Amino acid sequence: MRVITTIREIMNARAEWSVSQQVGFVPTMGYLHEGHLTLARQARRENDVLITSIYVNPAQFGPREDLNTYPRDLPRDLRLLEEEGVDVVFVPASEEMYPAGFVTYVDPTGALAEQAEGASRPGHFRGVATVVLKLFQIVRPHRAYFGQKDGQQVAVIARMVRDFNLPAQLRILPTVREADGLAMSSRNAYLLGEDRIAARVLYKALQAGRAAFEANPGERASLAAKAIIDMVQAEPRARLDYVEIRDTHDFLLKETLAAPALLLIAAHVGPARLIDNFLLREDGTWDTGIIATSQD
Ligand code: PAJ
Repeated sequence: MRVITTIREIMNARAEWSVSQQVGFVPTMGYLHEGHLTLARQARRENDVLITSIYVNPAQFGPREDLNTYPRDLPRDLRLLEEEGVDVVFVPASEEMYPAGFVTYVDPTGALAEQAEGASRPGHFRGVATVVLKLFQIVRPHRAYFGQKDGQQVAVIARMVRDFNLPAQLRILPTVREADGLAMSSRNAYLLGEDRIAARVLYKALQAGRAAFEANPGERASLAAKAIIDMVQAEPRARLDYVEIRDTHDFLLKETLAAPALLLIAAHVGPARLIDNFLLREDGTWDTGIIATSQD
């Protein structure tokens, strides 16, 4: 496994592989867990060459967010990626990604980027879209792998791939969870003791929302939202940020309970801000498979 820290080197390595070799790419911010490794495993199966990146992207963090405390453990991450048969890990320094004079950003707009997570974290998706476009330009993958865990991020990136006619195919994999349902996340490292137990509430709330959804097809969406809110409010350690039920195509708020829909939740538990979502697909199945690909 090669660990590469400069853009020049990664582009040279990319040029060495023959045009017939399929390149898979898994971008991450490190502190890897089973969610990330599932993406790497799938990418390993589907491509000849597998590149991952580890980069805590400052542009997607707000001024009062956790950029400085975001968990990091590069030696462990590299060990785990080696075990998954990754060929190249790209670990750029910030001067590589945002050198002096950098001024060009991708700024996604509309409900997709400015509501829900975008409203709570202004500028977040601008940072995500910018770094993902930049990474795609550097790595030029045939396939790029993302987790449904960050459902709105997936939708923003899928939109950018279409809007800019990017040649990468997106592969979206289901959320990997702990035994009690908590979605795996690098930020779960912030959860200690009682907070870790309380963090189950996001998953439990989404389950309650799903049950309300299924019991009231065609009824007002607020019925399911209320079931989610009630569950979170019953957990004293949790503070709700938002609960929203949105259409997966236009990302607008749903008025009635009908597929396709994304149930989105964000809440603070102790020192951690956590997000999760359930996806109801048009075929009536929940929380599995692909939200969107660039082939849609
Ligand atoms: P990060 O949070 O490290 O996540 C990297 C990838 O792993 C993302 O596609 C994310 O959705 C996926 N992932 C995280 N937790 C998961 C889980 N429990 N199950 C399945 N997939 C999971 O997302 C980012 O980094 C950044 O925004 C990035 C895209 C790298 C741009 O900086």
